[in-house]
Amino acid sequence: MCGIVGYVGNRDAYPVLVKGLYRLEYRGYDSAGLALIDPSGNLNVYKCKGKVADLEKYVAPMDPQGQIGIAHTRWATHGVPNDANAHPHFSQSHDIALVHNGIIENYHVLKAALIENGYSFRSDTDTEVLANLIEYVRRTNDCSLLEAVQSALKQVIGAYAIAVVEKGNPDEIIAARKSSPMVIGVGEGEFFLASDATPIVEYTDRVVYLNDGEIAVINRNKELKVFTFDNQESRVDIKRLQMSISQLEKGGYSHFMLKEIHQQPETIVDCIRGRINSESGLVTLSGVIANREKFVNARRIIFVACGTSWHASLIGEHLIEDICRIPAEVEYASEFRYRNPVIHPDDVVIAVSQSGETADTLAAVELARSHGAFVFGICNVIGSSIARATDSGAYIHVGPEIGVASTKAFTGQVTVMAMLALTVARERESVDPAVYTEIVNGLLELPSALNEVLKIDGQIKDLAKIFTYARNFIYLGRGYNYPTALEGALKLKEISYIHAEGYPAAEMKHGPIALIDNEMPTIVVAVPDKTYEKTVSNIQEIKARGGKIIAVIARDDTTVRRMADYCIEVPVVTECLMPIVVSIPLQLLAYYIAVYKGRDVDQPRNLAKSVTVE
Ligand code: F6R
Repeated sequence: MCGIVGYVGNRDAYPVLVKGLYRLEYRGYDSAGLALIDPSGNLNVYKCKGKVADLEKYVAPMDPQGQIGIAHTRWATHGVPNDANAHPHFSQSHDIALVHNGIIENYHVLKAALIENGYSFRSDTDTEVLANLIEYVRRTNDCSLLEAVQSALKQVIGAYAIAVVEKGNPDEIIAARKSSPMVIGVGEGEFFLASDATPIVEYTDRVVYLNDGEIAVINRNKELKVFTFDNQESRVDIKRLQMSISQLEKGGYSHFMLKEIHQQPETIVDCIRGRINSESGLVTLSGVIANREKFVNARRIIFVACGTSWHASLIGEHLIEDICRIPAEVEYASEFRYRNPVIHPDDVVIAVSQSGETADTLAAVELARSHGAFVFGICNVIGSSIARATDSGAYIHVGPEIGVASTKAFTGQVTVMAMLALTVARERESVDPAVYTEIVNGLLELPSALNEVLKIDGQIKDLAKIFTYARNFIYLGRGYNYPTALEGALKLKEISYIHAEGYPAAEMKHGPIALIDNEMPTIVVAVPDKTYEKTVSNIQEIKARGGKIIAVIARDDTTVRRMADYCIEVPVVTECLMPIVVSIPLQLLAYYIAVYKGRDVDQPRNLAKSVTVE
């Protein structure tokens, strides 16, 4: 969704803000803008439709001045992407400027009341309503900016993170959050503010994560103060940031997505580091062991997630049932939260989220906790809202994922799920020791298997060229690789804008087979597993109808090789870990097709990396 940056200190704010916006551009890229208080005390706003580069082109010749400012990159919710709807929004008098991430659900009611009190509006946004509401409260109650923000936010229904600056108040930024992230970087006599830590890391590693319902007063001359909306002062808890700048750069790759695909042998190593004892061969997820009874006695395990994380959860469900013998379910967080689901106190709910900020997943966590369930998080971003809202958890440790299409997070999530299932299964004694050892060995073999599979990058690139002009694709898989098929299809559609469907291979004949003709490529995952023979039959059914087959096969496969039009060979590891291996060529295929089509791979249209609104 949108990204917020802020700075107050002794540097020129403009370069800090623009650099920060570039770092956050993966969150939203419909429009961008910034507000600065210049040395004469004027509050200036610069904003335009388009990307951060468009903003820079527009603003740089005006030589913006000031050592305090706020900035924003937008993912439109209310009002089309245009200059007027871009943030920051001024209040009517131009005394207050505000940037906002989230949605103000009751903005119609607030707007109507403000119009009755003489306010008019220049944009279609909910954000401008809040800017005016703060100004209205400040004037009618003759109160401080902090009090005005507190009072205004008490009238607001919705989810938001905001930053506010005011003319005549050149030392202070007010920031607040409710269900939308906000991090404050604490430097020497300077403060940074952002939706996530990526714009902050090059200046300081000391950060404060605002909690829901908190307001920060960030004043260059004073200590950082944090209050609740009811003006109770909160403790300021400074944490160390675990991130480096090199993780935020492309490192010679043409896109973040390609870098992140190629990083996977290393990210798997980071993910399993310290969790597998090389001598005993035992796997330990400390967050599971610390809550052993909850997992061992779980009546049911429910995964809640969205998008790619939901696909990874389908593999988690399979693993939990296979080796832990605990009933498992996977829920779309957005459906779960509104469905009045049956949740027992002895259920374990696992929330899976790369960003740790997805609004629906966070709401599902809160719902599950309110029913007394034990909630475990599998997140990537350290200190994220879901990581903090859950009872315990395990990070996937794959480093910042900047490409909007999730790649290394998916394989990291599946790896953590395998380690979680092994930890629980051993405690429950529900897994055959030979199977346990085979999966552990599979985890240890993964980095070299992924290095092997990445060697076919060039071959996948050639294949992508052949299929760039296909208008539809079907992806088929079974068992552990049914979710891989779903994930492959999602990757293709989100970055190339080609329609693609993932399907369990045997379900084809119950409908989708009607789509097959010689213009419909079908990608089939046909690696050795329990259903290999059945998948072979499914391939024949497609061939019999003139369909084109691209098969993902084991290197020594001879059967499917004879039937398929094109083959992608992958190394074989134990069955439950094959989705990790198979997903790599599918990520590469989507990537190269999108590149051939000239798509904006890292920032595909309409998408944002972190979906912090419903
Ligand atoms: C797809 C993708 C999205 C996310 C989804 C959940 O490539 O990135 O489908 O997986 O928005 O995001 P997280 O995992 O951050 O909760």
